[in-house]
This record gives sequence, structure tokens and C-alpha cells, in this order.
Amino acid sequence: MEIKSKKLKQALLIWYKKNKRSFSWRKTKDPWKILLIEILSQQTQIERADIYYKKFINEFPSPTSMANSSLKKVLTMWSGLGYNNRAKRLYESSKILSENNFDKIYPNFEILPGIGMYTKNALLSFAYEEKVLAVDTNLERIFSRFFGIDNAKIFIKENSDYFLKKVNSRDLNQAFMDFGSYICKSSNPKCSMCPVENTCSKYFVDTNKSIEKFSGSNRELRGKLLKLLLENNKMKRNEIYIKISEKEEKVEKALSGLEKDNLITLKNNIIEINSN
Ligand code: ADE
Repeated sequence: MEIKSKKLKQALLIWYKKNKRSFSWRKTKDPWKILLIEILSQQTQIERADIYYKKFINEFPSPTSMANSSLKKVLTMWSGLGYNNRAKRLYESSKILSENNFDKIYPNFEILPGIGMYTKNALLSFAYEEKVLAVDTNLERIFSRFFGIDNAKIFIKENSDYFLKKVNSRDLNQAFMDFGSYICKSSNPKCSMCPVENTCSKYFVDTNKSIEKFSGSNRELRGKLLKLLLENNKMKRNEIYIKISEKEEKVEKALSGLEKDNLITLKNNIIEINSN
């Protein structure tokens, strides 16, 4: 388990370095800004939340500026986002924070309305550099697939110290978030682009919500074929059959799937990787 954990942690941080999304609030340690984006992004896609974040932070650069405004103003600015309770809780939080400020209530952020364990830990990690994991459904999904476990919550709790050892928790948490939204997605995960595909226990929920075991599956074969073709660009069918020890009909099924997805071209007996 230690070796697997190490692989996941290292691969994820390397992947994140190359693929991270650069949002303005990722560079700040201002807890108000972090609270704002976290509340905006609950039940809302992060790119959409970011548009609202810019408007809100411009209008309300501090909790006091919001507390001195009105709920009506906050709700008007919120319009189009839905789940208006969030706006109300944010406004109530601004009232509390204008009297107590973040450092006074640190680390007990759960006293703010609507702040659960996830948001509390996001604040502790992003604003205070605490070594905590912000556990959301992304993180649970990644862990349960990678380690092939049912109860990721308990597993994460027991192993979080290991994951956080010698790393910046802000990077690790955001690496999990970006990885979960680009690669290890809840439906149609991009396993062939995953840096830990070979180590993953590969249990995942397919689009029909049934559990598919990855080992021996068409998806696994597709991954193997794609890797082979990426290394060779162009191959004869017979060469492929020799390299991949699988039944021909299984190989053909996986090849036509890859062709359908526009990843390869089948020309008579030659199979070629598509370069664009
Ligand atoms: N969703 C909520 N917080 C996020 C963050 N910091 N990065 C990406 N997605 C998020």
C-alpha cells in the first residue's frame, strides 16, 4: 500500500505541475477570498463560479464590505447561480466575520453558517497552509478507484498523514481537484491519459452506474493498444496480435472502438495512430 500511495502522490503532483488551472484565488491566502470561491463553487462548476467570484470580490473585498451592504444586494448579484441559500449563508457569515475576523475564529470555521468539514479544511489548507485534506467526492472517487476500496472516507482519514508528508497541502488538494475534474471524472474517466493507469485498481463507475472491473476489460485492452500504437505510430495487424496476447475478436473490438473515437485509422492491414 505504501508503494502505491507514493506512486499516486508523486504522479499526481507532477501531473498537476503541467496541467493545473490558474485561477486568481489560487494564489491568495486571504481567507475571505477563499471562503467566497468555496461557497460559490458548491454545486456550481468552478469556471462558472470564477466569473461570479470576480464580480463579488470587486464589490465586496472584505467581510465588512458585504456586512455593510444588504442581503438584497447579495441576492441580486447571486442571480443566475441558483441555490440561493448559499448567498444567504454567505451574507450571514460576513456579519459574523465583520465582528470577529477569521483569525479570531480560527480554526473553528464550522461556526460559520453552511461551513462543513470540506470547506473548513479548504480554508485551513489554502489560507493557513495546514496539513489537511479537503475531502470531497472527487477525492473519494479517486481513492476508491485507485485502491479498489469501498469506504474511501475511512481510508483517507487513516492515510492522510502519509499523503500530506513533505508536500504543500494546497498543491496536493488542488492536484486532486483538477485531476478529478479532467482525468478521473465520475463518468467517462480518461484512463488512457492517466499517469497512474498501470497501478490503478481500476474499479470505476461506468455511465450505467454499474461497477466494471477493469482488469481484462475492453477498456484495459484499448489502453494497451493505444500505448503500443503511440510507441510505433503504424503497425500491421499481425504484429499487433503477436504483441497483444488476446483473442483476435477482442482485439478487433477494441480497435474499432479506438477508430470510432478517432484515435486511430484502420487501413486494410495497417493500423495507424491519428496525429491530430
Ligand atoms: N472546487 C472548489 N474549490 C476548488 C479549488 N480550489 N480548485 C478547483 N476546484 C475547486
